[in-house]
Amino acid sequence: MAEVVIVASEDEAGELAASVVVELVRRVPDAVLGLATGSTPLSTYRALARRITDERLDVSRVRGFALDEYVGLPAGHPESYRAVIAREVVGPLGLTPALVHVPSGDPTTIAEAADDYERAIEAAGGVDVQILGIGRTGHIGFNEPGSSLASPTRVKTLTEQTRADNARFFDSPEDVPMHCITQGIGTILRARHLVLLAFGASKARAIADAVEGPVSASRPGSAIQLHPHATVIVDEAAAADLEHAPYYRHAWANKPGWQGV
Ligand code: GLP
Repeated sequence: MAEVVIVASEDEAGELAASVVVELVRRVPDAVLGLATGSTPLSTYRALARRITDERLDVSRVRGFALDEYVGLPAGHPESYRAVIAREVVGPLGLTPALVHVPSGDPTTIAEAADDYERAIEAAGGVDVQILGIGRTGHIGFNEPGSSLASPTRVKTLTEQTRADNARFFDSPEDVPMHCITQGIGTILRARHLVLLAFGASKARAIADAVEGPVSASRPGSAIQLHPHATVIVDEAAAADLEHAPYYRHAWANKPGWQGV
């Protein structure tokens, strides 16, 4: 079962997720981080940037792999995940740009890009901590409902719901690409620790399905139930549909000090 932590605010969630990364980097200075985009991980990246500065943490050897990328955006497009990761993660955290990878969404080389990315993650020794958000369709990365639970990195077609949800980042809804390249669910499950974050009532159903629903390709987030070390950090609104919320609160409140997150 995933460990579920219900917190009061996005900032508190960000602090907790950042502490997981800080403790990892102290132990493993060349740790491999799995990096999500979207609004959800921003409080984590903010907290992480602050702690890196305050604690003078050396992150020069930290490596990173983004989860996904749109296919077909012009190079340098501000909403390409390559640009987002550079702006919101690499810059503020002070990571070494050459050590942070984003799958290529260039349509001319897309056939090889997925396999190349999968091999690069493997060559790096795999992801130590994978930060995840979840879409309203229940997607993790861009693995929309129906994605094989064993899937590798590959090209996917976005649902119209996800395109509409992401339209806020673009000038018009039609500008949201139709296709993406995403780490597969199988890829994500190979990370050694999953940290899934979700905030707000619009994520409550997806979280309940992911944590407590049947494991099913129709609910991609439910794949986390197959992982031996998954931490789910949610605010009260995103926790609203969790049947066992009282137990999660009880377990967290009584967590032994020797047992890290
Ligand atoms: C996006 C990303 C996912 C993200 C999810 C939720 O489209 N591809 O990695 O977790 O959808 O987005 P948000 O955090 O903005 O709600």
